[in-house]
Amino acid sequence: MVRVEATIFTKGMRRLIVLTGAGISAESGIPTFRGALGLWTRFRPEDFADPEAFARRADDIWAWYRERRRNARKAQPNAAHRALVEAERHLPEFLLITQNVDDLHRRAGSRQLVELHGNLFRERCTRCSFRRWAKEASDHEEGVPPCPRCGAPLRPDVVWFGEALPAEAWEQAVSFVLTADPSHTVFWVVGTSAQVYPAADLPRLAARRGIPVVVVNPEPTPLDGLAARVYHEKAGERVPQLVKEVVSRSEQQ
Ligand code: OAD
Repeated sequence: MVRVEATIFTKGMRRLIVLTGAGISAESGIPTFRGALGLWTRFRPEDFADPEAFARRADDIWAWYRERRRNARKAQPNAAHRALVEAERHLPEFLLITQNVDDLHRRAGSRQLVELHGNLFRERCTRCSFRRWAKEASDHEEGVPPCPRCGAPLRPDVVWFGEALPAEAWEQAVSFVLTADPSHTVFWVVGTSAQVYPAADLPRLAARRGIPVVVVNPEPTPLDGLAARVYHEKAGERVPQLVKEVVSRSEQQ
């Protein structure tokens, strides 16, 4: 592993890669997964994020996801989500890779966006290739929606334990890291415990290629040791500062 001590805002920075996790939405009121109030502390993942559980208890699982949808719909993007939209506008090469399913990055205005774990507001057929965005009215329905094409049960279009990531999203994320010129690229990791793979491999891959990694998280993470810089701060406080710095440097160039 190459530990990069170089300045993280090299004058010729062209490419910014950002990996986000549940922590970036914590200040919008959406619970994270791990930690004292985390979803996986209160609910067992094998009951709610597992294809076998869905085969047995689809009604309960839909009720749980509808509640998460209603909460996410009520939430608003925060200063960190908005700052990343600003970064995208100012950098020639930008990709935001998120593990979040809450749709807050898209609602904030991010467009160069890859969703590795799917999206709470999308649903897909368990049998055929049908997929759609859920209508807001369906947040209050009950039961298991049938596929309008083949009649099989629809499921939330999110990645569950043991399932592969959407291939196109994963390839896009990896390729953006592999094609980056390390002397003109920085990789930010914001609000993730970096315990879920393969997402957590991306910053490691970047570091191995000599790309400086910057971590923003109030708590220590397994990536701190390889990071060029670690900010033990909240995303809503640190990310806007980092973006301000990037924007002012890009204007000087
Ligand atoms: P976790 O719940 O594992 O981690 C959230 C991280 O956010 C923790 O490291 C917190 O310290 C940090 N955090 C909390 N508040 C923060 C704040 N205001 N600013 C910045 N960071 C803050 O969530 P993820 O790492 O996203 O997968 O979890 C990864 C995946 O595990 C999720 O996508 C989900 C889950 O199982 C699927 O559902 C497939």
